[in-house]
Order: sequence, then C-alpha cells, then structure tokens
Amino acid sequence: MSHVTQHYDFTHAEAAYRDLARDLTALLSGERDLIANAANTAALIYDALPGLNWAGFYLYKSGELVLGPFQGKPACVRIGMGKGVCGTAASRRETVVVEDVHAFPGHIACDSASNSEIVIPLVRGTELLGVLDLDSPLHARFGAADARGLEALAKIFIGSLG
Ligand code: SME
Repeated sequence: MSHVTQHYDFTHAEAAYRDLARDLTALLSGERDLIANAANTAALIYDALPGLNWAGFYLYKSGELVLGPFQGKPACVRIGMGKGVCGTAASRRETVVVEDVHAFPGHIACDSASNSEIVIPLVRGTELLGVLDLDSPLHARFGAADARGLEALAKIFIGSLG
C-alpha cells in the first residue's frame, strides 16, 4: 500500500485514534505474519503519537515476555510474568497505565528518559500473545482515551494475524 505519513490531531484524541485505527487496518490488510505486522504497528504508533520515546511489543514465549519489534532505544530483552509494568499487564491481562514509572514498584527502567508508560495485553481467545508497550518522557502522558484507543489498535493487530 502507499502509506503516506499523515498528521494525527491528538487534541481530539478519540478522532485521532479512529483515524489511526482506519490506517492500521489498511496497513495490515492482506498480511498475516506476526513479526511483519507487529513491526508496522509499532512504526505507525511511534510515528503518529506525540511524546513517545518507545513503542513496541513483547511477545509471550515459554512463560516469559521476550522483546519483539519496536521503535526507540534498545530495550531489555526478557521480562518475567508479573515483573515490571509489562509483566504486570501480561499476568493481569489488563491494560496498565502508569503516570509516574518511578513510583511503580518493580518498574524496569530500559530508557532513563521514560517517565510514564502504558501497557496493553494482547489476548487472542484465551491465549496470551504478548503486550504492546508505550513509553513517554512526559509525566502522565497516557489517559483513558489512550487506553481505549490503543486497545482498539491492539485488537486490529490481533485480528490481522488470522
Ligand atoms: N518499563 C517496562 C520495561 C520495558 S521498556 O519500558 C521498553 C516495564 O517496566 O515493564
């Protein structure tokens, strides 16, 4: 497809996430490869959302989370279930929004620039596929509109895998 990077207006977050959902659907259509679709999803999100320093995937393999496709600085590779924000979201199977990562017990600091974080679990049926993780250098960057919008994008990603 001809993907032209466009400006998403996040002063209207719900509308911006709707546009992003439409564009992600188009970007992933016709392809089922998990790595390819995770890579393009991370790239689109990192490019579209203001105020991020990291966006990407940890994939659930043999009982732990292993670094997957991402944009941003190199990150820690393996995260145990229940560890850090990612392992907490994965074991609870719930989105976790952290306003201040320095106040989150057990937070795993991959990039010292990060101050807030959101992690969305990726669940297909009863199967945990991994998590989608976004970091920001801003304090309290992520709110309810981001949680809903990113959960919708995660659903599109999961659906693309067939
Ligand atoms: N901060 C995460 C680790 C992953 S990096 O942010 C990319 C955590 O506490 O799970």
